[in-house]
Amino acid sequence: MRLDVVTIFPEYLEPLNVSLVGKARARGQLDVRVHDLRDWTYDRHNTVDDTPYGGGPGMVMKTEPWGAALDDALADGYEHGAHGPVLVVPTPSGRPFTQELAVELSERPWLVFTPARYEGIDRRVVDEYATRMPVYEVSIGDYVLAGGEAAVLVITEAVARLLPGVLGNAESHRDDSFAPGAMAGLLEGPVYTKPPEWRDRGIPEVLLSGHHGKIARWRRDEALRRTTANRPDLIERCDPAVFDKKDREMLSILGWRPGADGRFGRNPEAVEE
Ligand code: ADE
Repeated sequence: MRLDVVTIFPEYLEPLNVSLVGKARARGQLDVRVHDLRDWTYDRHNTVDDTPYGGGPGMVMKTEPWGAALDDALADGYEHGAHGPVLVVPTPSGRPFTQELAVELSERPWLVFTPARYEGIDRRVVDEYATRMPVYEVSIGDYVLAGGEAAVLVITEAVARLLPGVLGNAESHRDDSFAPGAMAGLLEGPVYTKPPEWRDRGIPEVLLSGHHGKIARWRRDEALRRTTANRPDLIERCDPAVFDKKDREMLSILGWRPGADGRFGRNPEAVEE
């Protein structure tokens, strides 16, 4: 997969040399090119922003440097044999970044990121490239960062670990929170490793039992416990067909009951655990 990032802070992308993404680069699974937007400015002050039309606070990133930088990054990619680029525009006004979107992006051969500072990029830039390639405007959460670079790191890491051969163990994403499969829609529960006792704290006995069925059940109960506590919206949204008899017992213990449409909601009569 080829990744291009155009930014006014190339050094912010240094973490792409580290850990999983760094190793994927070293192995040639990822071809990452970080470009300094100011290399495409031609005035004395290397200006990349200007005041917004219509007034208002802050500055808007100018069309010309972005257009020139993207044209060159795209031309260079094509010259190196890349194809099928998509533009990924990090913005708090974008669609939410989810595991599903990470999977979708991991299936594309070439991602071009445009992390912006200030109030964002002149809209004509997105409109222009949208005529040539798919554009994903993506938000990593309901908060406002000072710029999109941290979002690029987040998106890249979530995408890179899905590429074939990047994670050592192909099973590792099977049980991920948000991965499709048996645990679909539930958060992962707690995990433990050696030593068996630490500061008088043991580990749940069932994990030592060697009884795979009981362990799977315990993991599922813990997933339900954690999801009801931290993300009740996920339970409410869940297709109730995914809950077996034991799930329903656990949900009832946790203070949840099926409504008229079968979907689960908090039982208003339940006493908080
Ligand atoms: N830029 C600023 N805030 C952002 C967010 N929440 N997601 C993606 N890009 C951003």
